[in-house]
Amino acid sequence: VNSALSLVEHDTAKNLIRVFFLQEKLKEFAKKSDSNQKAKHVHVIGAGTMGGDIAAWCAFKGLKVTLQDQSYESIAPALGRAYSLFKSKVKKDDLANLMLDKITPDVNGEGIKHADVIIEAVFEDLKVKQDLFKKIEAQAKPDAILATNTSSILLDEINQVLNDKSRLVGIHFFNPVAKMMLIEVVKGEKTSEDVANRSYAFVNQISKLPLPVASSPGFLVNRVLAAYMHETFILLSEGYSPEVIDKTMKNFGMAMGPVEMADIVGLDICLSVAKNISKYYGEEIPEILQNKVNQKQLGKKTGKGFHNYKNGKPVKASIDSTKSQDSQNIEDRLVMRLINVCILSLKENVVTSPELIDAGLIFGAGFAPFRGGPMNYLSTMGEEKYRAKIASLQKLYGKRFAIDLESNEQRGGYAVNY
Ligand code: NAI
Repeated sequence: VNSALSLVEHDTAKNLIRVFFLQEKLKEFAKKSDSNQKAKHVHVIGAGTMGGDIAAWCAFKGLKVTLQDQSYESIAPALGRAYSLFKSKVKKDDLANLMLDKITPDVNGEGIKHADVIIEAVFEDLKVKQDLFKKIEAQAKPDAILATNTSSILLDEINQVLNDKSRLVGIHFFNPVAKMMLIEVVKGEKTSEDVANRSYAFVNQISKLPLPVASSPGFLVNRVLAAYMHETFILLSEGYSPEVIDKTMKNFGMAMGPVEMADIVGLDICLSVAKNISKYYGEEIPEILQNKVNQKQLGKKTGKGFHNYKNGKPVKASIDSTKSQDSQNIEDRLVMRLINVCILSLKENVVTSPELIDAGLIFGAGFAPFRGGPMNYLSTMGEEKYRAKIASLQKLYGKRFAIDLESNEQRGGYAVNY
């Protein structure tokens, strides 16, 4: 028993050291730029959930920020949230006020002309974004970074309106901005290396971890999470309780159970990501998710989703212990769906190495760090066991567990089955 235990401990320690190296690996990208110039001024357009919090984070990191939206009324709530962030970080009122002074509301977009980095975070609508980038390109400094925070529109669609398409890059933050370490730096077909390199440096400057990803639907993290969530919704429709699913995956080592995660992200947002991703990868939208949204039970923000919320915390029925057979089934299905999409993303060069998949999933999705990331988990499992597991899941649940490991063939540009 002792030696088995020390073997497990040894693996865990090795994997945690690996996590440290993965973090360093992401930071390395910041050194690729030859320019030593740090950004001083960031202009953020759209003061909603994301733009408001991005502005606050950049001000907290010492940058001058101009924050643009259509009216002062739309900017005010973001300033309130920014103040709460500063206060929670520095405790003292006067320091929090100094930080707040770094953010200037800017309805007319005066900041565009002066900013080193411009981050667009307006509605997820191609036309709205294109109209904006036309104006931005005409006014911005020639070497300013032009970035979009889009989570689902391809860069090569947005950049159609630009004279110089190589200037557009994705700087894709995760929600909540202040908590999530990872930022996907999205490269379209046209994005120049120099712009990408300077974007990594900027991300590092604001103490986040840059992950270079190709502009394919869902990029890396949302695409993988969409499959994982899809299976979660199917489990819920089969009658597994949210508590049991969450507990099983927390036991596996995830930072948060998937049902609670869906509730926190917002079931309306989950639905729109699912719809967007299914356009490309042909996945059916689970009825149970659509029904929740129809009933306006959107998760934490409405007080009810798959869990009920009280004072912002899920009220979970206590479960004595999960039946081991159930948990094994839940774990196998969720982990295998997730791993399959990781493998596909690698085959399609969404990222360039298995390490980067592991880094993305650990820092961007709360994947169990002590398992070293999904690809590391897969290699620990071994190919034979993986294939056997996939074959048996496929037999029971059909083609959503199918994955074409041999051929690199893609249909319609993207692999159809996860
Ligand atoms: P939101 O609806 O909370 O905020 C959008 C803001 O943009 C609103 O305040 C609106 O008044 C403003 N706006 C719209 N058109 C404008 C224009 N022409 N000029 C200036 N302001 C304008 O949206 P949210 O959730 O913050 O999303 C923004 C972007 O971030 C979207 O592209 C979304 O895909 C992306 N994103 C969202 C995440 C999320 O969890 N909500 C996560 C990561 C990315």
